[in-house]
Amino acid sequence: MPFDIAAVRARFPSMTITDNDMPRVYFDNPAGTQVPQSVVDAVSDCLIRTNANLGGYFSTTRLAVEVVDAAHEAMSDFLNAGDPGEIVFGQNATSLNFSISRSLGREFKPGDEIIVSRMDHEANVSPWLMLAEDRGLTVRWWDWELETFEFDLARLETLLSPRTRLIAVTHASNVIGSITDIPGVVQRAHAVGALVYVDAVQTAPHIPLDVQALGCDFLVCSAYKFYGPHQGILWGKREHLERLVAYRVRPAGDELPHKFETGTLSRECMAGTTAAVDHFAWLGRTMGEPAGPSRRKAIEAGYCAIKGHEDALARRLLDGLAGFADAQVLGIADAARLSRRVPTVSFISASRSPDAIAQALAARNIFVWSGNNYAVEAYRKLGRETEGGVRVGFAQYNTPAEVDRLLDVLRESTP
Ligand SMILES: Cc1ncc(COP(=O)(O)O)c(C=O)c1O
Repeated sequence: MPFDIAAVRARFPSMTITDNDMPRVYFDNPAGTQVPQSVVDAVSDCLIRTNANLGGYFSTTRLAVEVVDAAHEAMSDFLNAGDPGEIVFGQNATSLNFSISRSLGREFKPGDEIIVSRMDHEANVSPWLMLAEDRGLTVRWWDWELETFEFDLARLETLLSPRTRLIAVTHASNVIGSITDIPGVVQRAHAVGALVYVDAVQTAPHIPLDVQALGCDFLVCSAYKFYGPHQGILWGKREHLERLVAYRVRPAGDELPHKFETGTLSRECMAGTTAAVDHFAWLGRTMGEPAGPSRRKAIEAGYCAIKGHEDALARRLLDGLAGFADAQVLGIADAARLSRRVPTVSFISASRSPDAIAQALAARNIFVWSGNNYAVEAYRKLGRETEGGVRVGFAQYNTPAEVDRLLDVLRESTP
């Protein structure tokens, strides 16, 4: 079954909104995607029908428990965890990283080593730097290669030692888009007894995540980057989550996963997250290879259905940018290596600042981000710590015509 862009767009009510008679072009997706009506309905239904705290005897509280359980099951399918108890909901990925790093830090001793990367978003860097400061840990930095825009596992090997306790690394960069070979990292980390903590925030919208195949110990993602509401999700191997001390109030129970879900969480966002997961299953069932009754299989088929479309959008932009003498793509631009990146393309111009370009595009209702996108180390390495670049990130609802419109505006507005 072919990918049906019209059917996808019809599910997202914000696609038809105009400002000053100009349609909106959402290329700000790496910072947050739009949501389908099914997600809006799930959030609103939760607030209308199941709005109570957990653990009581009346109908709303019992229904609220169902919402919470369904969300853990949905995310377990989404990540192929095979165990809803390994799914922890939280405010966002950053908060979850700060929280779990604190629990992990109780097991680390002064002089232990942790590895962070120069490709990661600060959400998976700062929590570890602060932990190192608190616990007297040594921080080692894993650099990426300027020539390839990728990590080199041989360089990682030079950083590992018997004292390495953890590697925190991104699954895909939110700026240059490169995908990390996580099984390769895991193999090397586990050989020295180190844990692997993966930030999958930027792969979740584009690549089916499978924590069992990746082999990592922890993985975080954010529902608002894959068509859901503002919500963070952490997956951790049961053995780690059971062992770790959770920072929680005394009356809260010790069972998984709730021991890490401190306070009252946004159950409406959990309901919306379930609907976002089901959106991928809908894609698979309507546009993918027949997947049978399994939601996991339908999700995988959904990702297969969008891949060609999203890759083609990235290819179109990269080809278009190649026609601008003053533009430089910050990332893999070679067609043969497209499978090693997600469809997030950052670029700079010799003649204009990233802010000037973003403003010119905004004037035509094309939404992109400029700046460093919190990828502080990546831009420092590129020598553009202050200015950053322009980031265009594609989602399943974007069209080739929208890419052409962006290229036209760039052409018209070039001085
Ligand atoms: C790669 C990556 N990691 C982490 C984050 C932070 O996510 P959250 O807003 O859920 O904390 C972002 C947000 O842009 C991101 O792109």
